[in-house]
Amino acid sequence: MSSPTFAVAIMAAGKGTRLKSKRPKVLHEIGGKPLLLHVIAAAKQVVQAGDIYVIVGHEADRVKDAVATEATHFVVQAEQRGTGHALQEVKAFFTASAITPPDHLLVLSGDVPLIRPETIAAIRDFHLREGASMTILTAIPSDPTGYGRIFRKSPESSEVVAIVEQKDLKPQQRSMREINSGIYAFRTASLFEQLGSLTANNAQGELYLTDVAMLLVKAGEKVVAIEANGGVDEVLGANTIAEIMHLDAAMRLDTARRLMAQGVTIFRPETCIVDADVKIAADTVIEPFVQLLGKTAVGGDCRIRSYSVIQDSTIGEGVTIRNGCILDHAHVADGAILGPYAHLRPESYIGESAHVGNFVETKKVRLGKGSKANHLTYLGDAVIGSGTNIGAGVITCNYDGVNKHQTTIGDNVFVGSDSALVAPVVLGNGSLIAAGSVITQDVPEDALAIARGRQETKPGWASSRRDRLRKS
Ligand code: UD1
Ligand code: CA
Repeated sequence: MSSPTFAVAIMAAGKGTRLKSKRPKVLHEIGGKPLLLHVIAAAKQVVQAGDIYVIVGHEADRVKDAVATEATHFVVQAEQRGTGHALQEVKAFFTASAITPPDHLLVLSGDVPLIRPETIAAIRDFHLREGASMTILTAIPSDPTGYGRIFRKSPESSEVVAIVEQKDLKPQQRSMREINSGIYAFRTASLFEQLGSLTANNAQGELYLTDVAMLLVKAGEKVVAIEANGGVDEVLGANTIAEIMHLDAAMRLDTARRLMAQGVTIFRPETCIVDADVKIAADTVIEPFVQLLGKTAVGGDCRIRSYSVIQDSTIGEGVTIRNGCILDHAHVADGAILGPYAHLRPESYIGESAHVGNFVETKKVRLGKGSKANHLTYLGDAVIGSGTNIGAGVITCNYDGVNKHQTTIGDNVFVGSDSALVAPVVLGNGSLIAAGSVITQDVPEDALAIARGRQETKPGWASSRRDRLRKS
């Protein structure tokens, strides 16, 4: 006998009315990533992308665009008439597309994002072992309000007789504590057989997938429950902004714990915002109130001081990022020193052991090995060699109001403070720019360029002026 086949359906068509947000619920983010992407990532650890069916409906195109790279199928539920209706659409999709349905269907909720692949696999295995037609993942949170409740045959039995939604509970049933996580395994044929019998005869006027439990029991089939063993957070739903922020905090603490277990020091991790996909090597120290976002990767032996916000950037080994730096799609090589208050904008490449100091802004720049721009400078559209010193207040004038132009600065150049480099312009290796110059022409190697009004000095002039003013 060949082993049974499995597919995953993810319910993601709902609007998320309780969020009071224009954004579809499953595109709200935790750990820097939409809820739905977390669920798809977990599902992909259990089945192949081609066996994942994402049910979309409310703002379907927006949701599809957000997860298009995941290579899953999409089932469109144009009208959202409840979770049971969502699965009716999956059944119709299999028929319409002539895809043979899997033997078993794992159903996940797009708004239960912390679900782990191990748990999905555990329901699958329990479902097969029990020979059940429906297996329900449950939990016992301290406050079960809002969730569907599980009614077992008896407290010790794994068999379930019904799931009752919060709004349909009788007052004496509201203290029932075991909740339905909205995550299930079904024998596909059994599920598909019962879907047609669902009615909207309930408090919300919807077709409840949860009613399939009762229908299967009536038909003499086995429905079982398995309690999540990875803690309650794993199966918590995200129905309000407060709940989403709770899950976000749980996920980020988890990320921080994982990084600390790998040798990263994070002071006061509860104050840091570290996205789920961020990588940090051992012996790096993260101070309080740091944000590391998106696909940021930080090497070992770095120190990132408080209030720095680093988005989608690559940081080498032994880099010091002082307080309050902002990095966006930047690359920083080993041993560089940034800040305080440096702003590295996209396509900034900071070379090995280079220094970028306070109030320096860079954009589309390559700063060579050991070069320094330490104070109050704007470097945009520039290539700068190694061992070069950019003085305080130097500006690359890269924009003429219509087009951007390139500034090229060689190795071992000294650019005096408060110089304006009007691009396009080339400063040759070893050249020296006198402070306060406005450079509009290329400067050859080893030349001095001085482009400013010549100083005139009048001995005694200041004191005679004072005398004049006092007499009058
Ligand atoms: C659902 C369960 C409840 C369970 C809870 C767990 C039902 C009837 N109730 O309630 O027992 O305790 O999840 O979190 O299933 N969706 C669709 N199409 C629809 C309606 C919803 O795809 O027509 C999607 C939503 O986008 C969401 C998921 O299904 O991702 C669950 O829907 P939601 O309305 O949040 O259900 P709950 O009230 O939370
Ligand atoms: Ca929900």
